[in-house]
Amino acid sequence: MPVLSLTASHEAAYRAFLADFEAAGEDVIPAWFCPRGWSSARCAEHVDGQERGENLPYSGVACTTRFLEVEGRLVGVANFRQELRGDLFRYAGHIGYSVAPSHRGRGHATTLLEWARGYGRGLGIQALVVTVDPANLASRRVVRKCGGLFVQAYHHEVKGRDVMVFSVPT
Ligand SMILES: CC(C)(COP(=O)(O)OP(=O)(O)OC[C@H]1O[C@@H](n2cnc3c(N)ncnc32)[C@H](O)[C@@H]1OP(=O)(O)O)[C@@H](O)C(=O)NCCC(=O)NCCS
Repeated sequence: MPVLSLTASHEAAYRAFLADFEAAGEDVIPAWFCPRGWSSARCAEHVDGQERGENLPYSGVACTTRFLEVEGRLVGVANFRQELRGDLFRYAGHIGYSVAPSHRGRGHATTLLEWARGYGRGLGIQALVVTVDPANLASRRVVRKCGGLFVQAYHHEVKGRDVMVFSVPT
């Protein structure tokens, strides 16, 4: 199951990936920030730039985006923030991920977080900060499966959300 960068050649698979979320009524795809109308080629150019520190997203830090491909289908996406500053340590953390609704429950998010552990290790990061909505039981389970240790839970006043912070050794 390769974890790979999006390219122009993924257009059909990328459209199917977006359609999967749409069919499930999920308008927001956490960890994927390109407008729906963009081609895979344009998205690829954009996220490749973010990896080099260009076109930075709201977090203001360089980030690496990868997709998980299974049997020719794009089934999940992960966004890895290469460094953390300020509020990112307690909100957002190093990594976000989403798995297409019809492909959930098959270990794909776990594969993406395992990829993130290896990627973080390569950057010299000893432990990933992973933040989770306490109500997101599937994501909490993914973090635990990857060795995540509970750090703290708090209410983020500005976001108006409860947040759990985990540390995942790389
Ligand atoms: C969270 C998410 C990424 C999980 O993806 P996934 O591919 O289904 O995850 P995995 O299959 O690797 O693991 C899910 C685990 O959670 C468990 N799980 C799923 N729903 C659960 C629930 N309601 N309560 C408890 N455990 C649950 C599964 O049984 C599995 O654990 P197991 O392997 O021990 O059986 C996916 O649901 C998703 O994309 N959600 C929307 C985006 C999101 O919330 N991203 C995370 C925040 S950035």
